[in-house]
Amino acid sequence: MKTDLSVRIGSLHLKNPVMVASGTFGYAEEFKDFLDLRQLGAVVTKTVTLKPRSGNPSPRTCETPSGMLNSIGLENPGLEVFLKTKLPFAAKLGIPLIVSIASESDPQEFVELACRLERVKSVSALELNISCPNVKHAGAATALISQDPAATKAVVRSVRKVSTKTIITKLSPNVTDIVPIAQAAQAGGSDAIALINTLTGMCIDVRRRRSRIAMPVGGLSGPAVRPVAVRMVWEVYRKIKIPIIGMGGIIDTFSALEFLIAGAAAISVGTANFVDPAVSGRIIAGLKEYALENKIASVRSLTGSIVKPCVQPKK
Ligand code: SIN
Repeated sequence: MKTDLSVRIGSLHLKNPVMVASGTFGYAEEFKDFLDLRQLGAVVTKTVTLKPRSGNPSPRTCETPSGMLNSIGLENPGLEVFLKTKLPFAAKLGIPLIVSIASESDPQEFVELACRLERVKSVSALELNISCPNVKHAGAATALISQDPAATKAVVRSVRKVSTKTIITKLSPNVTDIVPIAQAAQAGGSDAIALINTLTGMCIDVRRRRSRIAMPVGGLSGPAVRPVAVRMVWEVYRKIKIPIIGMGGIIDTFSALEFLIAGAAAISVGTANFVDPAVSGRIIAGLKEYALENKIASVRSLTGSIVKPCVQPKK
């Protein structure tokens, strides 16, 4: 029996549903010695802003129980240097290349970035990072965009007007109800939703009575957040029509399957790349094996295939 691992996200055709999450895989070249990058479903770059950013003060990461706290602050070389020095390698891989973009202060920067990238053929899709909890302007985190349905819809709509590329909107889990935010992104014209960015958290060194990272608050990722992420994918899947890319603590085939069964069309591997840079390749092989063992003709049939609970949630 043959099994089909391919999935569609907007106009993208992925040969399998395994992607790598923004900010955990550099610009792909950094991982070339660890796995055959061409086997990936797609690559998502580290977030790019219009101007270079040096990021937040160090220390910027620390380990937590089953996870990691980060406050990188969107360090990146800025669009110009990205296009000249980072993009060419990833563009040659022959797999869909998704560029993550963010504004630093004015949401209009999303439009300018989208306009500039519209002319770059090798870029298949834009991931709108409206959910980074670590960049503040005038005291407000840029993640605030994704905590407000109206602001989310406005940013997506403004990018949609200038871009013909597939648009993926990455949402924040730091909200009371994720569904209206996902619906707002869909209404604005997003082709897909990426769920979830990091959960805000703190870690304290009790001997020094200081935060273990330089910024008091950071974003928590890794297996510790997985149940939250799976729950959000499940909630959103039932209420929107566009595909979901699930992420948050995926470390192996079974954790990837949790997201697919909850409703994700594809998944992204994030923090696990820091532990095992070749893990995505193993997850692809594992999904194939699972599909064959369970006589699943297409991995697409797994999306949202969770058995209905005895107690139905309220509409
Ligand atoms: C960061 O650069 O601080 C993390 C990026 C993100 O969470 O979107």
